[in-house]
Amino acid sequence: MPLTRDASGALLLGSLPLQEVLSAPGTPAYVYDLDGIATAARQLDQAFGAAPHLVCYAVKANTAGAVVRSIAAQGCGADVVSGAELLVALACGIEPDRIVYSGVAKRNDEIDRAIACGARGIGAIQIESVEEIARIQARARAAGTKARVSVRVNPNVDLTEATHAHIATGHDEAKFGVPLDDAFDAVRLVGESPDLMLVGLGVHAGSQFTSLEPYLESARVLLHLVKDLRALGPFSGLRFVDTGGGFGVDYGQGASPAPADFVRAARQEQEAHGLGDLALYVEPGRSLVAAHGVLVARVIQSKVTTAARWLMIDAGMNDLVRPALYQARHRIVPLDRDAADVESVAWRVVGPVCESSDDFGEHLLPRAPPAAVAILDAGAYGYTMASEYNGRPLPVEVFARGGKIVSKTERGTVEAWASERARAGEG
Ligand SMILES: Cc1ncc(COP(=O)(O)O)c(C=O)c1O
Repeated sequence: MPLTRDASGALLLGSLPLQEVLSAPGTPAYVYDLDGIATAARQLDQAFGAAPHLVCYAVKANTAGAVVRSIAAQGCGADVVSGAELLVALACGIEPDRIVYSGVAKRNDEIDRAIACGARGIGAIQIESVEEIARIQARARAAGTKARVSVRVNPNVDLTEATHAHIATGHDEAKFGVPLDDAFDAVRLVGESPDLMLVGLGVHAGSQFTSLEPYLESARVLLHLVKDLRALGPFSGLRFVDTGGGFGVDYGQGASPAPADFVRAARQEQEAHGLGDLALYVEPGRSLVAAHGVLVARVIQSKVTTAARWLMIDAGMNDLVRPALYQARHRIVPLDRDAADVESVAWRVVGPVCESSDDFGEHLLPRAPPAAVAILDAGAYGYTMASEYNGRPLPVEVFARGGKIVSKTERGTVEAWASERARAGEG
């Protein structure tokens, strides 16, 4: 875990004392340790050894340029899910060749953007339905290019036990991917098109897998399919298999296998299926960034009722929606001292938003309420899912390297928010 305490008990992320952000830029603030993120990306990339591969960072987890650049600098590409994310990846210097684009409902202008960038368009547009093929083909023809595509298959594996229902994507009731039964048809249609080139096949079964087996189960479905396809024809353009993202992180429930363990095991499966010549693509998001980001919040008010001891903080579900959306639990610790060093009691930590679900759960914290707390493991799906609900400006982001703050974003003002809303709908 990248958090430690110094001799005075002050909390450090990497080697940055988090107290520093309280004076400027203030709270709520996401703080990221860019060194930790770069190390995580490097370790994953190195886990492949000499095997052909590409780590496509799932930009949706954290779109901040400093974060994306730190990961790209370790040799990673990107997995994007919108035209806007594609622009971020390109602006951060990721080569179009190293970008894959997933999504069940890509708009025509987004497809055009993906086809148009670089000399040959992006590395692969991931087809998510048989129906989508004709549209991508028409866009490629209109642009006068041959678009590189991969087929994202829905592996139809039951992952209800393995992860939260809202982040399981690889089952037959999910909207994602080409149904397994239609995979051959999809490959045939792509093969028949003079405007498309099949370069890969992939799966992404879900997120936050805390053991290898569910990930490998969906990888095996993919590998089996690719093996069967190759038995039918040479598929000369095929370059990669993509086993997706989903490597779990430790939110306090106990250690998960490391991302490197997932890719080593997937690579072994690939070899066992006789597909070792193909590159292995993976699409990790959370596992590269979650642990290296925290959300720092001030305590505004405490209140004791017969129901609970409430600790009201200035970060809410609009800043970090995961607990409200997925019943996710994030550890919360005081900034100035270890709760274990003083008399601690269970506090129910809640935000200021007018929703009962604005609730971060019960946490053991000092009886005398701390001035500020850090919500841990908030580097992934934190800021990217934030909103301005209840008229609360988006949280700021603070970037640290070598224990020093190297940059921060500007916080919007309530005045600007209010004046924009008050003008909405006026001629
Ligand atoms: C297609 C795709 N790839 C990769 C990811 C990244 O998953 P994770 O952040 O769990 O690694 C997601 C997340 O939902 C996704 O939808």
